[in-house]
Amino acid sequence: MTKAKIAVLVSGGGTNLQALIDAERAGKIKSGEIKLVVSNSASAYALERAKKAGIESLTLTRRDCGGQEGFEKRLMDALDEREIDLIILAGFMSILSESFTAHYPKRIINIHPALIPAFCGKGYYGLKVHEAALRCGVKVTGATVHYVNEIPDGGEIILQKAVNIRPGDTPELLRRRVMEQAEWKLLPRAAELVCRRLMREKGKRI
Ligand code: GAR
Repeated sequence: MTKAKIAVLVSGGGTNLQALIDAERAGKIKSGEIKLVVSNSASAYALERAKKAGIESLTLTRRDCGGQEGFEKRLMDALDEREIDLIILAGFMSILSESFTAHYPKRIINIHPALIPAFCGKGYYGLKVHEAALRCGVKVTGATVHYVNEIPDGGEIILQKAVNIRPGDTPELLRRRVMEQAEWKLLPRAAELVCRRLMREKGKRI
C-alpha cells in the first residue's frame, strides 16, 4: 500500500515529533511515513530527534529567507519537491499565511494544548496556554488536533481529549500532564486518520 508522505514542522523540544516517530515505528501509523522535519529554529532539540531517527531535516528561518514570504516560498519548494501529502505542525510556533494554508486545504494539521475554542488563537501558544487556563480557574483542559486554515486555531476539529486540572497545578505540571495524557496519544491517532483519508482520495484519482 502506498503511504502518505508526511512533513513535520517544529520549533522546540519535539516531544510530539517523538510521539509520531514512535507511533510509526510501533505500526500505529500505518498509512503514512515521516519523510521530512522542518524547524524554524536552528537550536530546536527536535532536530536531534529527527537525526537519531534517520529522518531528513531542514532548518529554515524567517531571517535567512528574508521574511515570511521568502520563508513560505522555500518551505513550499521543499515540501513540493518531496511530494509531501500531509504537513503536521507539532509545536511549530509561527503562524502561516492565508496563501500558504490555502495551498494545502485539509492537508495541514496542528496540535494545540487546550480544548479549542478555549485558550486558543493569536498569542496562545506553549506555556501561555496553560497559564491562561490556570488563571481562568477551569477544572478541565486538554488538547485538540485540528485542520489548519487562515484563522489561527480556527480550522475544523479532528480529535480532542480532556485532562483534569488538579489543585496545586503549575503551568509546567499541567503542560506535562496534557502532553502525557492527551497530546502524545492524540497526534499520532489523528495523523493515521488523515493519512488514511488522503491515500483513499489519492487512490480514487488514479
Ligand atoms: C506542545 O504542547 C504543543 O501542543 C504546543 O507546543 C508544545 C510543543 O512541544 N503547541 C502550541 O502551543 C501551538 N499553538 P514539543 O516541541 O515538545 O512537541
